[in-house]
Amino acid sequence: ESFDGKTAFITGGASGIGLGIAQVLVERGAKVVLADLRQDHIDNALARFAGGGQSNAVSALQLDVTNREAYREAAARMQKEFGGIDILVNNAGVGLEGPILEATYADYDFGFGVNVGGVINGFIEFLPQMVAHGRGGHIVSTASLAAEVVMPPHLAIYAASKAAVCHYCEAVKPELMEKGIGVSILLPGPVKSNIHETQQNRPAHLLEGSGFKDSEKKLSRRIVGENWMEPEEAGMLVADGILANQTYIITHGFYKDAMRARAQAVLGATPDKVEDAPDFGRFREEDG
Ligand code: NAI
Repeated sequence: ESFDGKTAFITGGASGIGLGIAQVLVERGAKVVLADLRQDHIDNALARFAGGGQSNAVSALQLDVTNREAYREAAARMQKEFGGIDILVNNAGVGLEGPILEATYADYDFGFGVNVGGVINGFIEFLPQMVAHGRGGHIVSTASLAAEVVMPPHLAIYAASKAAVCHYCEAVKPELMEKGIGVSILLPGPVKSNIHETQQNRPAHLLEGSGFKDSEKKLSRRIVGENWMEPEEAGMLVADGILANQTYIITHGFYKDAMRARAQAVLGATPDKVEDAPDFGRFREEDG
């Protein structure tokens, strides 16, 4: 099955996983719009598509997904230029990390602002046009396997933000299904990317008060592993996941035991006694 005639809007689409998704969707017939904070990433990505003779399928716009006004303008532009989009990939994210006792409000605002707020802004700005154009559509949001298991230390804000993305997407899926809009969550393990540059993506006012300055400076020197997954491979899983309206798209298996242990711990703490199912559908008469 191909993506001929479909338009995809990919946030954080100019680097790493987002770029991998873009490449696969273009190869499979889609028109793709890369929406990214970083003009240097956009320039590199566009040059790559030009090198592959694919320029006519790709355009780009500079967007900070936390900027609601700019996001609204971007969505309006998509409506005008493409008659609305068919696929939204809420992929922009930041890999902030640091010791929890050093975290400041600036760190919470940065992590939740981009990783959760950016995703919510995507839903808010694009759902109306996806419903209105009547062609149906699909929304993929990038979370992380860090949402499913507790990974090495210093990822609390990151993990909590990604867990929020997962549960939000699970919760809206049934309602959007009725409108012909599919929902998927991408949960990657290690994929080759520039996520170690997270500190460069902090706006000045959230860098200033950050307690994570040192840890993120160290993160910027982290070496991308040769055995980490290629972004295009993750992109292929995403393309197939969209076509199958798969809820969870998961790149790696090596956290499976830890995921099972966590699920079993939750079940183990749950009473065996099964009460009557709660009835949430009863209401008082309206007052007056
Ligand atoms: P990346 O840094 O290579 O790509 C992310 C892109 O998002 C960058 O081009 C960056 O400029 C852009 N971006 C950052 N903040 C933005 C904002 N406010 N508005 C618009 N664009 C913004 O990193 P990667 O790894 O490809 O990250 C993509 C997603 O995958 C993120 O949500 C990340 O949390 C998630 N992820 C990545 C994993 C990995 O191993 N690479 C593992 C698990 C999750």
